[in-house]
Amino acid sequence: MLAPMQQPMRIAPSILAADFARLGDEVAAVAPHIDLLHIDVMDGHFVPNLSLGIPVIASLRKATDLFFDCHLMITNPDAYLEPLREAGADMVTVHAEVFPDPTSIARQAADLGLGFGMVINPPTPAAAVEPYLELCDFAVVMSVHPGFGGQTFIPEVLDKVETIRKWVDSQGLRTEIEIDGGIDATTIRSAWDAGAEVFVAGSSVFRAPDPVAAVAEMRARVER
Ligand code: DX5
Ligand code: ZN
Repeated sequence: MLAPMQQPMRIAPSILAADFARLGDEVAAVAPHIDLLHIDVMDGHFVPNLSLGIPVIASLRKATDLFFDCHLMITNPDAYLEPLREAGADMVTVHAEVFPDPTSIARQAADLGLGFGMVINPPTPAAAVEPYLELCDFAVVMSVHPGFGGQTFIPEVLDKVETIRKWVDSQGLRTEIEIDGGIDATTIRSAWDAGAEVFVAGSSVFRAPDPVAAVAEMRARVER
């Protein structure tokens, strides 16, 4: 059952787990079954890994109309909002550990017509986003340490999801709560019950033998 203000569930597969040599085909295969596409941008500074950037997003934009949720694991996201918008991003999320006060970058995103969200790492308290929820279309709780796909879900972060759900509901906000990392058919229900509505899933979709069936199974775990 939906909690009072919880919105219908949405699944956002992360292309980090896709076969990059076949990226267009892998995205096309799941596109009719998913709600957003999660794109992990890493700079090798904020996280100890590199992933992809503007040219890949621009190429993908030509291949699909999906909503692009761009998760910026970079130390200077403000320098890239405009090129990301031009490449086809629909929304950017920025880490609270990089921009503790996101007021200026949230305004920059709004001026560009980009959705905006704040992300918190597992050790970062929910209180880091509380004063800024009104600026956020999305509040993202990391359920793994950022940088790599395929890690084990950290259940302790669900307390933060519950806390943020209460703040969003009590303030009457439309901020959507997204959870990112280790989401699969065995973990999604607990995240939904805590109050999340947008589920990032990399390995459990793109590394599954049947990605469409994997998405359907996750949906069923929430909707049944
Ligand atoms: C981790 C990324 C996640 C990652 C999730 O830094 O932010 O979006 O792709 O991958 P899985 O679902 O495999 O944990
Ligand atoms: Zn991510």
